[in-house]
Amino acid sequence: MPINKSIPELIEAAKSAHKKSEPAFSHFRVGAAIETEAGKIYSAFNIESSSYGLSMCAERIVLWKAIASGESKFKRMAIVSDAEDFCPPCGACRQVMLELAGDIEIYMTNRKGDVKKEKLSSLLPQAFTAKILSNGRD
Ligand code: THU
Repeated sequence: MPINKSIPELIEAAKSAHKKSEPAFSHFRVGAAIETEAGKIYSAFNIESSSYGLSMCAERIVLWKAIASGESKFKRMAIVSDAEDFCPPCGACRQVMLELAGDIEIYMTNRKGDVKKEKLSSLLPQAFTAKILSNGRD
């Protein structure tokens, strides 16, 4: 039976990760937490490189961390930053998240602590997927 962790617990996990972020170059801290179907929560933050383009978003790190820990089924992700506006996942993260986590719920927070929920498919409509790839091969 899947255990439902509360959404506030998921957001708290993202907030704790956000506090640990030390982005030396952008100074833009992001924390993310993902909940598996079984109710386990993983969290991570963005990590940067002096070769700026090699920096990595919190969302992809937390997803890969969970997958590398043996997880494959996911329910929702929370994203926390210090931005005045809600912090949505970037385009690259949306693609990777939809492929590897499926159409999960995304909970975004703003600086005031308001929470906004979106389905990932509404953030990435008409996505390119492995199905399209397999239908188009020679
Ligand atoms: N970043 C994230 O971690 N998630 C987002 O949703 C947007 C951007 C990171 C990448 C980089 O370390 C910094 O924020 C500035 O783009």
